[in-house]
Amino acid sequence: MRNCGLLTAGSALGGFSIDALAAPAAGAAAGIDYAPLTGIKYPIRTLDALTDKQISYVVVGAGNRGNVYARYAEMFPDKAKVVGVSDINDFRLKRMSDKHGVPAERRFGDYHEIMAAPKMADAMVISLPDGLHYEACMLALAKGYHVLLEKPIAQTEKECRAILAQSKKYNRIVAVCHVLRYAPYFIALREVIRQGIIGDVVSIQHMEPIEATHMAHSYVRGNWHDSKATTPIILAKSCHDLDIIRWLLDKPCKRVAAEGSLYYFKKENAPEGATLRCTDGCPHEATCPFSAITEYARKKNRLNVLDYDKSTPYETIVEKLKTSDYGRCVFHCDNDQPDHYVSTLEFEDGVTASFSMEAFVPWGGRRTRIMGTKGYIEGDMRQFVVTDFLNRKGRIWNMKVAEVPEYKGAGHGGGDLALFRDFVEAVAFEDPKRLTSNIEASVESHIMGFMCEKSRLSNKKVAVKV
Ligand SMILES: NC(=O)c1ccc[n+]([C@@H]2O[C@H](COP(=O)([O-])OP(=O)(O)OC[C@H]3O[C@@H](n4cnc5c(N)ncnc54)[C@H](O)[C@@H]3O)[C@@H](O)[C@H]2O)c1
Repeated sequence: MRNCGLLTAGSALGGFSIDALAAPAAGAAAGIDYAPLTGIKYPIRTLDALTDKQISYVVVGAGNRGNVYARYAEMFPDKAKVVGVSDINDFRLKRMSDKHGVPAERRFGDYHEIMAAPKMADAMVISLPDGLHYEACMLALAKGYHVLLEKPIAQTEKECRAILAQSKKYNRIVAVCHVLRYAPYFIALREVIRQGIIGDVVSIQHMEPIEATHMAHSYVRGNWHDSKATTPIILAKSCHDLDIIRWLLDKPCKRVAAEGSLYYFKKENAPEGATLRCTDGCPHEATCPFSAITEYARKKNRLNVLDYDKSTPYETIVEKLKTSDYGRCVFHCDNDQPDHYVSTLEFEDGVTASFSMEAFVPWGGRRTRIMGTKGYIEGDMRQFVVTDFLNRKGRIWNMKVAEVPEYKGAGHGGGDLALFRDFVEAVAFEDPKRLTSNIEASVESHIMGFMCEKSRLSNKKVAVKV
């Protein structure tokens, strides 16, 4: 078994190392001394599951996320094996099935086909579009599969609760892909809070910068542009953030209030003469920061949605953009997701949090400030700094997890594959406690999201009842 020990900051154990210190400018100006944050044991592990059993799983939805979770079986073939695949896209179905040696009789199109077939594995990964999660998960549980369910759990609070009830009825595990809980950065942040290093947490400010071209790609042109066909953006994009705030505070949320709207990506903001597609000879194409030709054909970004890669010729991509949703002008899409969304959350004991989801930022990730009675933490998902009010010392955590070969390329700060490792263990031992993003905790933070949306639409504070 490789590298399964817990890691201590300041050590290079298991290949983890501490970066050169980057002291925050505001703190340095205030005369605060900075040093590495050492002496704390974090429950951070490498990616090999601690089990001698190999679990089998089927992947339902062999797109972007399905491939993330299938990758675990490629990395650790003695721990997990993909034995069946379902996807209505023949190219994706074949690509994943061929890679994992899935025989013809276990390759399925629409997910109803695999649900109708005899149970063929320990677990099912459901990485279908949002609107299909509910029915697929209910069927999978009734069939006896443990489930790794992509977020959002379902499109309504009622459906989320029904999945929770179904998991209890059939005594099956449902792991929800709240991957940030498994990212070493957030695990370390939570551990510092749990050890009382900044006293009682009184308040949190958390921001999710979506990054402007990601907003245009996913929530204006792409899969999640329509809140009714998928889920409101506070769930589709930010259920992770509500969940992580709840997890860091370790207290129930009592009330929420939210504001936000779609400010920019709509018809009335189209520059004069803008065409319906970037490929229609739009006079603004060369100067538009959201040009589809620039994003997909020139820069060759995000091409997995078109089933292309960086080797695909420019001309082929431009031709595809003439008919694909991804070639549409960002001011002429049928989108309704807000591009800015601010929520305030009140937790037990009067503890508060504010959360901002922002489209108009040039980078992604998360930014978090945590105010405690004895100290303060500020982090940007790369590093966080813990500053003590008494001795005015700042201590910096910036473990370079991304440089560990196993974690390299793993999305969400390493959380994607660490979640899958815990899922493998949970299934192998039939023990849901090995997961932190179990269905109970995830339904709770989803309800916070549904209530934020209710507040935004009704202009009222809304109670959160779990
Ligand atoms: N945890 C995260 O951080 C995270 C990140 C991105 C997306 N997601 C979620 O993961 C899910 C999948 O997103 P994605 O980006 O992989 O999308 P995707 O479009 O790349 O993949 C979905 C796949 O489902 C297939 N499909 C659609 N209808 C089907 C049907 N009836 N039967 C079988 N297959 C069908 C599609 O052909 C596609 O290949 C979504 O719910 C999304 O919200 C989660």
